[in-house]
Amino acid sequence: MSKVDSMQKVEVAKLSDLSVGVGQRVNVAGEEIALFKLKDGTVRAIQNSCPHKQGPLSEGIVSGEHVFCPLHDWKINMKDGKVQAPDVGCVKKYNVEVEEEIIFIYVE
Ligand code: FES
Repeated sequence: MSKVDSMQKVEVAKLSDLSVGVGQRVNVAGEEIALFKLKDGTVRAIQNSCPHKQGPLSEGIVSGEHVFCPLHDWKINMKDGKVQAPDVGCVKKYNVEVEEEIIFIYVE
């Protein structure tokens, strides 16, 4: 079975549950995920745990495509999950689909 076949599409929230720039924590298949709705309406989903010391990224400050960890301000790109310089690391990111106001995430 290929990796794509093993992905599950899971409903996680309604688009109206999210406020622009305010993270929302959801639990899916044992994984804690931070959801964000950006200014342009894009929804992003990343692991809700900072690679530094597990800060809850859903409580971070959003700026454009980035979220700043609430604990020590690491800057993380929500699109590719990469930590921005001078810090290094990455978080897991999830593919998101929005269908008729319902947000779905793909998990393994
Ligand atoms: S735990 Fe996120 S910056 Fe330290």
